[in-house]
Amino acid sequence: MNRQVVLRARPQGPVTEDCFEVVEHPVPDLGPGEALLEVKYVGIDPTIRGWLDERGNYLPGVAIGEPIRSNGVGVVVATNDEERFPLGRAIMAMVGWQHYRVLAADEFLPVTIVDEQVELLDTLNVLGHNGLTAYLGVTEVAKPEPGETFVVSAAAGAVGSIAGQIAKLRGAHVIGIAGGPAKCAWVVDDLGFDACIDYKADDVATRLKELAPRGVDVFFDNVGGELLDTVLRRLANRGRIVLCGDLSTYDVEGPSPPLHNIKYVMGKRARMEGFNTLDHWARYLEAADQLSQWYAEGRIKCRYDTLDGLDRAPEALVRLFSGDHLGKLVVKVS
Ligand SMILES: NC(=O)c1ccc[n+]([C@@H]2O[C@H](COP(=O)([O-])OP(=O)(O)OC[C@H]3O[C@@H](n4cnc5c(N)ncnc54)[C@H](OP(=O)(O)O)[C@@H]3O)[C@@H](O)[C@H]2O)c1
Repeated sequence: MNRQVVLRARPQGPVTEDCFEVVEHPVPDLGPGEALLEVKYVGIDPTIRGWLDERGNYLPGVAIGEPIRSNGVGVVVATNDEERFPLGRAIMAMVGWQHYRVLAADEFLPVTIVDEQVELLDTLNVLGHNGLTAYLGVTEVAKPEPGETFVVSAAAGAVGSIAGQIAKLRGAHVIGIAGGPAKCAWVVDDLGFDACIDYKADDVATRLKELAPRGVDVFFDNVGGELLDTVLRRLANRGRIVLCGDLSTYDVEGPSPPLHNIKYVMGKRARMEGFNTLDHWARYLEAADQLSQWYAEGRIKCRYDTLDGLDRAPEALVRLFSGDHLGKLVVKVS
């Protein structure tokens, strides 16, 4: 039987566990060119929240009764296409919240055979989409120069923690913004950030003035909303704002809160740019090579917060938005 976590009801505002239910269906027979993947891990990513709404985001919303779409990694346990989906090999794909996923002959979303030397978990984080997002956002859009001040929000999260470390490797002065003393301590003591602002306890505007007296050259923003507005006021001349994510507004109904300080973008001749990793396919291989090298050399570190059991995926998604995790949040399926 295939155990799945499906969408029972669409969230109105913040996501809650009762939006989901667990169901079981027989594992389907394989057709020509298809393969069966036994799912090992699913990544818990903020983008999932957008797929719970009918309108979706860059991909359509998940239908009621369908398994929740999510990135993940599994092992091929049966195959009708040995060349494309070799038996026993690990594959990263949009596996969804379920124990088994049939890989179709005409798979529309990317399917990647995992290098046998790579730890499965790392394919969902530093050597996967999160690492690529951080690398491409920093090198393609932010482009921090040595000595520049680089600020990153959701700094102890999957993308933010890697983005800050890459900026540090480029010689920037890196300031994280994260919720709580444990997160701030991790990014400074273990990851080598120069400082971290606990936005839940500190006044961010005051701390930015102290920590970045010349202003913020780059803001790598994962959160949007009020935090973004606060940082806009502290921009340096020719500052760059990378709009990587808008976490604070994902479960807000209606229009996003206004940015009162947008005038500083003009005044400081700054540049604000939306960014999506999917637009930078051409640089994926280069990015993956560089990230693998840094990771192997211990110059980039990461950590995982793992919940055991597929049935805990809804709890994990709620935790993602409450901030009750450190590093990359994943669910171990089997
Ligand atoms: N543009 C792209 O191509 C792309 C690709 C992948 C991901 N992203 C975006 O990157 C961002 C980070 O994703 P991730 O996977 O690395 O998630 P994550 O940072 O590991 O987890 C989310 C964190 O965001 C913080 N947060 C949640 N709600 C918040 C709020 N209302 N205000 C302030 N902080 C809040 C929490 O940390 P605190 O405890 O510190 O508040 C939480 O731990 C997301 O916006 C995601 O959509 C963009």
